[in-house]
Amino acid sequence: MIGAPWPTTSDRDADGRLTIAGIPVTELVDHYESPLWIVDEDDFRNRCRDYQEAFASAWVAYASKAWPTAGLMKIAAEEGLWIDVASAGELYTAQLAGVPGDRIVFHGNNKSVPELEMAARHGVARVVVDSFEELDRLEEVGRRVEHVFKVWLRITPGIDAHTHEYVRTGHDDSKFGFTMSLGLAAEAVRKALTLEKVEVAGLHAHIGSQIFGTDAFEANAEVLVELMAAIRDEHGVTIGELNVGGGMGIPYNHEDRPVSIAQYGQAVHAALVEACADHGLPEPQLAIEPGRALIAPATITVYEVGTVKHLPGLRTYVSVDGGMSDNIRPALYGAEHEIILANRHGSDNLAAVTVVGKHCESGDLVRERASLPDDIRSGDLVAVAATGAYTASMASNYNRLPRPAAVLVEDGTSRLLMRRETLEDLTARDVL
Ligand code: LLP
Repeated sequence: MIGAPWPTTSDRDADGRLTIAGIPVTELVDHYESPLWIVDEDDFRNRCRDYQEAFASAWVAYASKAWPTAGLMKIAAEEGLWIDVASAGELYTAQLAGVPGDRIVFHGNNKSVPELEMAARHGVARVVVDSFEELDRLEEVGRRVEHVFKVWLRITPGIDAHTHEYVRTGHDDSKFGFTMSLGLAAEAVRKALTLEKVEVAGLHAHIGSQIFGTDAFEANAEVLVELMAAIRDEHGVTIGELNVGGGMGIPYNHEDRPVSIAQYGQAVHAALVEACADHGLPEPQLAIEPGRALIAPATITVYEVGTVKHLPGLRTYVSVDGGMSDNIRPALYGAEHEIILANRHGSDNLAAVTVVGKHCESGDLVRERASLPDDIRSGDLVAVAATGAYTASMASNYNRLPRPAAVLVEDGTSRLLMRRETLEDLTARDVL
């Protein structure tokens, strides 16, 4: 076994080939072609189970934005998870995957009326309300289609989690939710309680993504319980459900050291119990919605090397057959996914190289500071770790590259999760 940040069944065979679930990636690429996303199904399923165990009686939802494809939603639902969707497209995919409405949570800071109508038709379990306008829209749609929406009010708790600016959401200056410190959360509760077609089932706060410590999560739980107490004091209403969001960090490379799933679970639960005791409140039903931590570590991307360009005194560029169209994370967030040679052992001497994609842009990085065998050459395969979250879901067709196929592997067998795009797919919407 190779260990984090690689999927749990990763290994090397006698020829030095990387294997996942006992299958050499060379064989998978021979069959499904390159680039290829490979998902270790057992790893994904075990993560779904670990979260449910670590957060005991909590409702655990898979934040499908991480990778909203039907096959993964189906597996998550089979493992007993709820599915979090954030658009009509994600909801439609959940329907396709056979996920019943009463296991779906609908998010989004600007849901449209048709999206809310769709939520009502599919009977989604909870709508996470983000704005005053949305409260009005829910009331209007609810009256029209005769539906009462059970909602969680999304609170902006004023917590500045230490993570990349683009994935921070809990600080006051955020586009998401009702800001506590400005009194908007209290005002939203006041308004929601007057509505006929909106039932306030709980509160929600997601503070950001790829967060390593437990402090911000504990603080989040405390702030939400404070608001519960304020609601009880003002309205005599006891809020029964608290959703503390997702955001648990994962290792992308050997340097990253997040806390374990169990530690996250214990910390959040302890903070919740203590805060409830302090305020004389019963412990609410806890809900969480991790995305990245469930699917990212279970997945790798394999690329074929096409060119190796040595610039003496400057650097060596290794170009692969994908890039920013299948993984925008290095370009967008400076993400550093670990990368290894995957089809053979290679030389024992490592070289510092920059692995780039095949797009017409210098920001098209796969890994800027990679360390790979110095005999790396055209035709080699490289594997990139922890690519299951926010790569396929944020993929584009830049330079009209077809998006890669994705396969699930389990105990020596493989099956398609998403087929490779074709050139016909790429032009299917073009009108001459
Ligand atoms: N709940 C809400 C309301 C969210 O907005 C998100 C992620 C999650 C749950 C799941 O968070 P996770 O457990 O995956 O951290 N594209 C960025 C990440 C954006 C996160 C968006 N919201 C990246 O590649 O790092």
